[in-house]
Amino acid sequence: MSLVGDYDELLRALDLPAKVRLLTGASFAALHGDPAIGLAPMTFSDGPTGVKGQSMSGGPLACLLPNATALAGTWSEELLLAAGELLAGEAVRQGVHVVLGPTINLHRSPLAGRVFESFSEDPLLTGKLAAAYIKGVQKRGVGTSLKHFVANDAETERQTVDNRVDEATLREVYLLPFEIAIEDADPWTLMAAYNAINGVTATEHDALLNGVVKGELGYHGLIMSDWFATRSVAAAAGGLDLVMPGPYGPWGQALVDAVAEGAVAEEAIDDHVRRLLRLADRVGALGSPRAHPEDPPAPDDPQRRAQLRDMAAAGMTVLTNDGVLPLGSENRIALIGVPATDTVLLGGGSSMVTAPHQVSIADGLTAVLGDRVRFAGGVEVRTTPAPARAGFVTDPVDGRPGIRVRLMTGDGDELTDDHMADAQRIIGFDSGLAGPVGRVRLSARLDHKGPVQLGVLGLGSWVLTAGALHEEFVVEPLTGIPGEAILAPRPHTLIVDLDGPVVVEAELDLGRTEHALVGLIARPAPKTDEEAIADAVRAARGADLAVVVVGLTDEQETESRDKTTLALPGAQDALVEAVAAVAPRTVVVVNSATPVLLPWADRVDAILAVGLPGQEGGHAVAAALLGDLEPAGRLVSSWPIADGAGPAWSVTPEAGVLEYAEGPFVGYRGHAAGRAPAPRYWFGHGLGYGRWEYADARADLAGPAPRVTVAVRNLATHTSREVVQVYFQPADAGQPVRLVGWAGAEVGPGATADVTVECDARLWRRWDTSAHRWADLDLAGELLIARGLGDIRLRAAVEPNGNLHRA
Ligand code: BGC
Repeated sequence: MSLVGDYDELLRALDLPAKVRLLTGASFAALHGDPAIGLAPMTFSDGPTGVKGQSMSGGPLACLLPNATALAGTWSEELLLAAGELLAGEAVRQGVHVVLGPTINLHRSPLAGRVFESFSEDPLLTGKLAAAYIKGVQKRGVGTSLKHFVANDAETERQTVDNRVDEATLREVYLLPFEIAIEDADPWTLMAAYNAINGVTATEHDALLNGVVKGELGYHGLIMSDWFATRSVAAAAGGLDLVMPGPYGPWGQALVDAVAEGAVAEEAIDDHVRRLLRLADRVGALGSPRAHPEDPPAPDDPQRRAQLRDMAAAGMTVLTNDGVLPLGSENRIALIGVPATDTVLLGGGSSMVTAPHQVSIADGLTAVLGDRVRFAGGVEVRTTPAPARAGFVTDPVDGRPGIRVRLMTGDGDELTDDHMADAQRIIGFDSGLAGPVGRVRLSARLDHKGPVQLGVLGLGSWVLTAGALHEEFVVEPLTGIPGEAILAPRPHTLIVDLDGPVVVEAELDLGRTEHALVGLIARPAPKTDEEAIADAVRAARGADLAVVVVGLTDEQETESRDKTTLALPGAQDALVEAVAAVAPRTVVVVNSATPVLLPWADRVDAILAVGLPGQEGGHAVAAALLGDLEPAGRLVSSWPIADGAGPAWSVTPEAGVLEYAEGPFVGYRGHAAGRAPAPRYWFGHGLGYGRWEYADARADLAGPAPRVTVAVRNLATHTSREVVQVYFQPADAGQPVRLVGWAGAEVGPGATADVTVECDARLWRRWDTSAHRWADLDLAGELLIARGLGDIRLRAAVEPNGNLHRA
């Protein structure tokens, strides 16, 4: 681990107020510099799926990657490394020093709104993939932030919830991915979460921050708070190094006073500053500025586009397939479902990125198949209409797809006048404006004949005009919760009959609201579900094959809110049933990051889960359906058979407390122990386009953990990627089955490959709660070589003496 320097000399050049000043951000995503010691201001950017820039929204155009579950679905450390390198290139292009990712909280309950942003339900898979991502980013001199530390696994009451996790479960499950990522990849920063863990809020958790992270794990990086998560000066003594964002916050003069009074030791302040200087040194913000010889490709460069398409396809998962996939020579394909055209390519919240373009599934399929594909509409999938799609609306000033946004003071003086590709914007975190935003004007041109739904999204007093239309109205808050104007902006819409081009203008008076999300709604007037299903049935009957796209939207998969059900929203199940009943063959594409219920699974011919596949998503789906790229993904979480049928379900705290009562039996570990019905699809499941025979398993037990080798033969007629998974089922029923290693291999048609899985010694431990330390796990048990626990190919008993006995 490189510690770079000791920085004592620089510390001596700073007095206490100068040191404390550095420990709170200078703005939403930037830090203070100090020319006296050659420290340049560092900048951060959210990063899980793209380097979005310094503002909450409306940032620079940036590559939009497939979401975290889609990347993790590849089970490929090489691919995560490449994703990290890509993100680093994006950061360098934008002058960003630290990318705020990866998110490595676990998929404890599938209801959690932010599951889309983190890798999986398994600590080993999560930790190893995170380590690869971190190595990819940091090898280019850009920092990462491992977040959110720790047990930050749901959104309900997210600022205050106290997650109660027993000591062994915390160590063996929730801390483990942090341990693996820190040990294997040394992320340069770590982010302390909003929640409390066992009664102590994360940003003040001395036992975890100072004790475990900086002490036991020997972490030398910088610990920052999640945004607005620092409550007090006590955090400075508890191990937190940096308060984000700034410039305001609970430290500043209060921390200077606390040190003067002896409540916080000055050594603690020095340690925080030393860590901050180490970060600056690592990212090239200390001393001579960093030189970046490379010139990273633009987000819409053909090389980037191909890379993003291939990444997305590699994580797509074939859930069922009776042989219809890859698609063949069907001449007439009925494409059905709103997500076919309004494909959801990213989740909601702080990870949102302004992509150069967003390729829908309809665009992607049409680009390859031309008029063999006919889009036949679908049922409503959202309760609130989405902001207008670029393409349906254009900027009235420069004609580009998207809208024009003017920010003004309350008196109407112009602050900014920008084009935006996305028809929504978060106001109030913009830096460098000449004054506070009081009014916002959104304008767009649309060229349509027939009924359209027009409207706005956002709280406040609006004036909406379009041709002869002039409407004045007020959108009132519904709940009064803090941040409602950003987190739950409400729409106001009306249906207007158009007979040609028109410019729509919507002007909002924000009143006293400082932070708000505003958007412009414009789309063809929706049909009723009955009409939409009747149209789809007609189209399916007249086609050779129906491709139905179903999914979730950012109403379900978003930061700040959890779900209440895994059922597909709206009448999507009825749509699939009706189409499957009449179409010669039906393929369903699931456009969601997280599990959904598929009650019709046995009545369709194939199901492909495509995640939130990023800016090239539609091209990737087309390539996967046609077999030009193999959808070689494996599931990263168990897909339950019904609501409630998982070992950890509720995410609603009771009196502020959420008990992790299932202990270590999370996800597949709980399903396998009979603590919940078998899932519809197991963690690790995924058919790809290969067919596999497993034989001749051997284990080498000489090292700290077994090395398992197995011969896999590809029975299919084309090259395919297999992911060999090794699980350990301890004989001790108190210990859950666990993934202990995996390895991927590409195997040609008819060929056989020996695949070796290096199991991870960190899974052969248990936490001894009486001695408060790790102990060896009893080796008695069974090794399972599997394609997910629903398809176990070979078993071998490990005898108490550690020998292997083939079952
Ligand atoms: C999120 C973090 C994010 C931060 C900055 C917070 O709301 O929890 O993941 O990095 O905002 O945007």
